[in-house]
Amino acid sequence: MTTSFEQFGSSGAVVDGKWNKRQYRIERLLGAGANGKVYLVKRGKLHYAMKTGFDAVDHQSEVNALKALSKSNTSFRQYLLDVDDFHRDGQDIPFYVMPYFKGSSIGEFMKRNGRDWIYLIGLNLLRKLAELHKEDYIFGDIKMENIIVSGYGDVDLIDFGGVTLKGKSVKQFTEVYDRGFWGGGSRTADEAYDLFAFAVLLISSTDTERRLVGIKQVLPQNRNVEMLLDMLQSNKALSQAAPVLRKILLGKYTSSKQALADWRRQSYPKPARTPRSTGGAWLKVCFAASLVVFGLTVYMYWL
Ligand SMILES: Nc1ncnc2c1ncn2[C@@H]1O[C@H](COP(=O)(O)OP(=O)(O)O)[C@@H](O)[C@H]1O
Ligand SMILES: [Mg+2]
Repeated sequence: MTTSFEQFGSSGAVVDGKWNKRQYRIERLLGAGANGKVYLVKRGKLHYAMKTGFDAVDHQSEVNALKALSKSNTSFRQYLLDVDDFHRDGQDIPFYVMPYFKGSSIGEFMKRNGRDWIYLIGLNLLRKLAELHKEDYIFGDIKMENIIVSGYGDVDLIDFGGVTLKGKSVKQFTEVYDRGFWGGGSRTADEAYDLFAFAVLLISSTDTERRLVGIKQVLPQNRNVEMLLDMLQSNKALSQAAPVLRKILLGKYTSSKQALADWRRQSYPKPARTPRSTGGAWLKVCFAASLVVFGLTVYMYWL
């Protein structure tokens, strides 16, 4: 069933939960992907992210996976804060509410803070995957758009639309990150499937030669894991992680725990620069302004 969700669009609109009776005020659209739209909303003084799905069946399956994870003893606990319908113009629009993660994509984060952050981001991402895999789920759709980086290289996974129980067929994936696309293995949900996408993500986010751009035009019979291994070999930003990433691409790990242990064992450069948040720039401007005012005051005093 496909419904129209345009009603959520305007900022300031109020969404009333039909069953749980919670009220949210729409602030702005955070993003839209293949499955739905996500809005920044406010309830009381707190901000949350609200997702509405384009397809009711897909939306429900995402909610089901999140429900199970929300009960687990992992960092995904309490991820699902509310599930409800919004009744408008004679139809019920399903939505769910999750924490709002303020941050940026891996690409933006590294542009601001340096590419040597990739090792810490990689470590934190592997940790998340290991947690999820322990609960017998795989993420499925690891890609740049579904990961938010904040603080000290902290990683949050968003978009649980691809989350699949181990052993089933992967529900949702993105070609360039997909093991099957590269002829590197099946689309069965196993831990190595997520690890493969993880390796492609790291290569693509440090791919200064932009060799992955336009890869979809390469004929399937000409695409293979060798191409990725080749890109990895010439990638200077990933030189210290190359042995682990190589093993991942060759399907040598059956569990993310093993990959994580190997990742930890390697010595990586400490990021040269402390992370700058977007708000940091303003602090600097204010600090500089206060110095000028101070200087002027001293100057006028002595005059
Ligand atoms: N919890 C969240 N906090 C902050 N931004 C989010 C959150 N969830 C989603 N987004 C933003 O909305 C975009 C689309 O959400 P996503 O769940 O990936 O939708 P789709 O399933 O359609 O791909 C994301 O790429 C991200 O920019
Ligand atoms: Mg998405």
